[in-house]
Amino acid sequence: MPRAARFLLLLLAGLALLTVVAYFALTKVTRDWFERDIELRSRLAVSSARQSLENNWRTDRARLTETLTDITRDERIMGAAACSREGELLAATEAYPREFTCSSLLASMRRDAPASADSWSTTPELPSGSVRLSVTFIGGESQLRRAVVLVHDVSYLSRRERTTRNILIIAFFVLSLCAALVTLIAARLAWRRWTNELRKALKGGASIEFLPLLRDVRTLARQLASDREREARGGLWSPERLRATLTQYLDGERIVVLANREPHIHERTADGIAVLHPASGLVTALEPIMRACSGVWVAHGSGSADRETVDKHDRVRVPPGEESYMIRRVWLGEDEERGYYYGFSNEGLWPLCHVADARPTFRAEDFAQYVEVNRKFANAVCEEVDSDDPIILVQDYHFALAPKMIRERLPRATIIAFWHIPWPNAERIGICPWRDELIAGLLGASVVGFHTQQHCNNFIDSVDAFMESRIDRESNAIVQGARRTLVRPYPISIEWPVHWLEQVPSAADAHVGVRAELGLSPDVLLGVGIDRLDYTKGIEERLFAVDELLTRYPEFRGKFTFIQLAAPSRTKIERYRKLNERIDEVAAQINAKWSTANYRPIVLLRTHHEPASVFRYYRAADLCYVSSLHDGMNLVAKEFVAARDDERGVLVLSQFTGAARDLTEALIVNPYDLRQASDALAAALHMPIDQQRERMRSMRRFVSEFNVYRWAGRMLVDAAELRRKERMSGRLDAMARFTRTGNS
Ligand code: F6P
Repeated sequence: MPRAARFLLLLLAGLALLTVVAYFALTKVTRDWFERDIELRSRLAVSSARQSLENNWRTDRARLTETLTDITRDERIMGAAACSREGELLAATEAYPREFTCSSLLASMRRDAPASADSWSTTPELPSGSVRLSVTFIGGESQLRRAVVLVHDVSYLSRRERTTRNILIIAFFVLSLCAALVTLIAARLAWRRWTNELRKALKGGASIEFLPLLRDVRTLARQLASDREREARGGLWSPERLRATLTQYLDGERIVVLANREPHIHERTADGIAVLHPASGLVTALEPIMRACSGVWVAHGSGSADRETVDKHDRVRVPPGEESYMIRRVWLGEDEERGYYYGFSNEGLWPLCHVADARPTFRAEDFAQYVEVNRKFANAVCEEVDSDDPIILVQDYHFALAPKMIRERLPRATIIAFWHIPWPNAERIGICPWRDELIAGLLGASVVGFHTQQHCNNFIDSVDAFMESRIDRESNAIVQGARRTLVRPYPISIEWPVHWLEQVPSAADAHVGVRAELGLSPDVLLGVGIDRLDYTKGIEERLFAVDELLTRYPEFRGKFTFIQLAAPSRTKIERYRKLNERIDEVAAQINAKWSTANYRPIVLLRTHHEPASVFRYYRAADLCYVSSLHDGMNLVAKEFVAARDDERGVLVLSQFTGAARDLTEALIVNPYDLRQASDALAAALHMPIDQQRERMRSMRRFVSEFNVYRWAGRMLVDAAELRRKERMSGRLDAMARFTRTGNS
């Protein structure tokens, strides 16, 4: 029962009890008071008529009756009688009830009252209601005593009691109503405040005080979910468990991944061939999956020494020294790369899917290349499979058409397409001249995955708007003929523990090392931002937030430095080149404003950093600011959390990332709102260690449980389930065909 309802019930019970007690107490007091009043009245009435009574007592019965009648002029005295000492009725008024004989009254009085008493009263019941009889003696000595009996109407007494009771009942109801109203208003106000807080927190305006409550709710939900899962399959998700899942559900078949970016790039350097690891969320997530499951990763061979390192089938075993899986490299000509990668993928689809104030450019020749390159990669995938029903993971917006192309060649394949960036609403996707081809291409997959339910909904709405199909909203599936495509949210994550951390110094060492290396004061507070140089990452807004911090919080001038690691990306696209220049300008501008002889607020490191180096910066920092203007997930946020095994450091996170839904203990901000962002940076720098620890611990628990093995495992289990159903219905169809042929 809700707290407010419980409180109200208690209050009403208390009020009812109070009313009953008040009723009895009041009745008792008023009764006593009325009795005394009657006593007094009787005496007064009798004593004022005493003379006349005594004079006519024995001598003139008619006058005696008259005197008694005078007494009854008081409206509350119904009748009167005069009784002799022996109990003889001497006179009585007309209305005097004859059943009250003098003898019986005097006998009762002798029994109940002391002999010396000069008055006595009783309340007998008459059929018409109760009356009060009072006996008053006149004449001093006992042998001369004469009794005057007065009959009082006490019906007004019960009337008054009834009125009192009614007033109390009405008062009870009025008070109850007031109590209910007050409780309701208080509960509503509290609820509104709670929901506002919740909304604010979810939207990203997270109130710091509120977060523990949100965390409690989430921890509980998470516990329930993970308990259920652990119970069902045992243990946290790990490489072993993923392998076991593959064996159990998919007969241990090898996985073929199709993703444009390769996880290990061979580059020619002055010292020979080096292996580089690209700055890519996709690679961060998928590479551990491949190491766990083995198989083949089909990718664009983009490294300058890639051709030198493959075998005659364009394959190379990786990672060097471990060789647990294979990369199959596909070579692209300049035109292909320009049209497919720079053109349609990154000048068309990328701005189409991100709400970051960039207009998409659609060129027919780019799309033609996109179609051809998708076919080229789809063919390469089909060459790598080792059965007619393989498991193929198609990754990202570079390959929207590939699922359908693969399906045409391998109708029984289980294809999982995962879209790593947001999927916009139907209206926006509608502006793409080839929206139908994109959607149809993705529907070639068995499962289409997105990071969030919102993106799933947008995709289903787009199918609804532009395709001939049936939407099974109950199971979130698109049905085309006999084929179903499941549409599901799978929030991506990172490996746990992160294997790169084995090569990274502890947080304490990184703290000292990084500051010394950059020539910063050892006690300077450090913020870090790590991104590909992309306009969706909000790097400009991030630097402005630092400027705003130094403007509004003077205590951090000379004491806080922000390091931005920016890996150059897509530099052949003008918008990216301009961004490069702009970031330079903004950093220079802010540095000119706040720098002193030995202080620099912004350190811009515009070069590629290998993962171990990136993790060292995470560990050295007091805060990490992820300010994406729009991001499917953003794994930098999760990497920062994974790096901080010292449970220190604060994550300031844009509300426009998928990660903000997972990492609610971060300080969630709107990166466009510089005041709010600078407040969050200040709050992060002022945050007590205890609170840092509490938040970090909770986020680490989340990322460790909801790691990338779980992400892949859940997709594979869903795909296996679908595959089982399809095989079953395939067998049933075959049986039906056989029966039909047999009968004919
Ligand atoms: O967000 C999707 C994603 O594939 C990321 O994994 C990666 O950061 C980016 O897009 C692609 O980058 P690139 O063009 O360098 O492969």
